[in-house]
Amino acid sequence: MKNIKVNIPDKNYEIKIENGCLNKIGEMIKNIYDGKKLFIITDRNLQRIYGELLNNNLKSSGYEVGMHVIEPGETSKSLKELEKIYSSLVHYNITRSDLIITFGGGVVGDLGGFAASTFLRGVPYLQCPTSLLAQVDSSVGGKVAIDLESGKNLVGSFYHPVAVFIDPELLKTLPKTFLHDGMAETIKYGAFKDEELFNKLFNFNSDEDLLNNIEEIIYTCCDIKRNIVERDEKDLGERMILNFGHTIGHGIEQYFNYTKYTHGEGVAIGMYWITSKSEQLGITEKGSANKIKEILIKYELPWSVDNLTSNDIIDIISRDKKKSRNNISLILLKSIGNAFIKEIDFNNIKEYI
Ligand SMILES: NC(=O)c1ccc[n+]([C@@H]2O[C@H](COP(=O)([O-])OP(=O)(O)OC[C@H]3O[C@@H](n4cnc5c(N)ncnc54)[C@H](O)[C@@H]3O)[C@@H](O)[C@H]2O)c1
Repeated sequence: MKNIKVNIPDKNYEIKIENGCLNKIGEMIKNIYDGKKLFIITDRNLQRIYGELLNNNLKSSGYEVGMHVIEPGETSKSLKELEKIYSSLVHYNITRSDLIITFGGGVVGDLGGFAASTFLRGVPYLQCPTSLLAQVDSSVGGKVAIDLESGKNLVGSFYHPVAVFIDPELLKTLPKTFLHDGMAETIKYGAFKDEELFNKLFNFNSDEDLLNNIEEIIYTCCDIKRNIVERDEKDLGERMILNFGHTIGHGIEQYFNYTKYTHGEGVAIGMYWITSKSEQLGITEKGSANKIKEILIKYELPWSVDNLTSNDIIDIISRDKKKSRNNISLILLKSIGNAFIKEIDFNNIKEYI
């Protein structure tokens, strides 16, 4: 088992990463919670594959278990589903001394975490991420949210779990498209912070090879994020570096109404796009964009998009919530593994995109 201790003001907790740990989850919960009642939030795919195992394990450890199952996918990260979760929590008489478990990908983690942060002004919760994206990124850092019709993640809070339990073996049942989608965020960690990680990912020969080494990869990504979140929990400075590839990526997702490109695909294109530009400007070491393109191709991720101009993207970014006054923070690479935040006047954005 690999452990990462997260220390942020007023809260310390552990991220535990171990192959097969779902089989002893009841025992592990005993170390962080002394109550009897648990409430699981999950989605229908995960309930079908792991629901019975999870329920049996928790019940045989002596817990009383309630469950709320959502439909898989981003459309469930809504006010409507949130309201249904509140009703289930009321139905099961969940109090602030009980424990909520979010068992799923980033959708379940964000939605369930937001429900936990607001129900009764905050019920403790445990994150059990099951997708690669959630295991390397969204379960760490305490950002929880739901979407509004007018935009993604517009309502949310910073609410850290009591612990994060990661079982990398669960990725064996994750459909390949979602595995590759999560690889975009994984590659991002290598690109902005850790050249060794980038090269390691580059050198795997197959998904099988990747999955055989995934425990270590997840540990590396979570530890990079932990380090950044500890120094800038509320995303006011350094944490923005985690958005490498995201400004353009979000623009692409939004331009196609979230139907053509997934989050990971948007980030993949965004990383290549911005690095090609910064390379042309002489900011980034030559050859970096090409390395990004090659690794994206390797994991069957897109690196460019037809029929979309810089102006289309700039138009969308001008409405982005990350734009403060007339400035915008861009994350650029000096070289692979070495990123920095560049604050620019929005009027000059065309140079960079
Ligand atoms: N809070 C944060 O810091 C943060 C960071 C990045 C992304 N996010 C959010 O994460 C969400 C995307 O997360 P996601 O990509 O995990 O999507 P998701 O939760 O929709 O999961 C993707 C699909 O994989 C299935 N799945 C998950 N784990 C599985 C497993 N082990 N076996 C079989 N099927 C499995 C799910 O049922 C779903 O169909 C977005 O809403 C995004 O905004 C949040």
